[in-house]
Amino acid sequence: MNTAVANRMTPSVTTMIRIDHSHALALFHRYKADTPPNRKRALIRNACLAIQVHAQLEEEIFYPALRNVMSGDPVLDKSEPEHQEMRRLIDELLSLTAGDNRLLDASCDEKFFALMRLVIHHVADEETQLLPAAERLLRDRLAELGMEMTRRRVELMKPYAGEFAANTVRSFPVGAAAGATLLTAGVIALGAIAFARQKNGRGASRWTRPHR
Ligand SMILES: [Fe+2]
Ligand SMILES: [Fe+2]
Repeated sequence: MNTAVANRMTPSVTTMIRIDHSHALALFHRYKADTPPNRKRALIRNACLAIQVHAQLEEEIFYPALRNVMSGDPVLDKSEPEHQEMRRLIDELLSLTAGDNRLLDASCDEKFFALMRLVIHHVADEETQLLPAAERLLRDRLAELGMEMTRRRVELMKPYAGEFAANTVRSFPVGAAAGATLLTAGVIALGAIAFARQKNGRGASRWTRPHR
């Protein structure tokens, strides 16, 4: 597959951000007080992983591009501090859910619902203000930024691919697990096509190290 074809197969950066948001919200919607502990654990860990990778992608690629064309915007300025607040909760949740077959600490619900509130508010600001602004002001760069985000996503996801796939299966009722696995494999494989062509050599940051 050549680069032009890979580019056409890659969503624009704003589409990719909306897909990530939908994925995180879908995980939230499946988490209920009476969800079995093993499924809660899988949902928490996959949501935390997805959010931390998404936040890093925005900070490395999307926010800097947006700052170049709309500096001093209050919503953009508070985005990274809000990510930091999410990371504090994510660190606690990953620590509470580390290890297999562990009963969930009672504080998991409280912390995960707090994370949901933060993320939902943050996503609302991005989808109603930052993404429309990007589509007006960065129209000519949306595809290129989407490609860059795809490449970087594969790098960031690599250390987690096994856990992510396993948790995706665990987080679904039995009948839906096969479809979920195929979806996960497809997303990772598509990104790998772009990753194979990437030469920029950036490594994983602290946000890409697996939590044990
Ligand atoms: Fe964000
Ligand atoms: Fe976002």
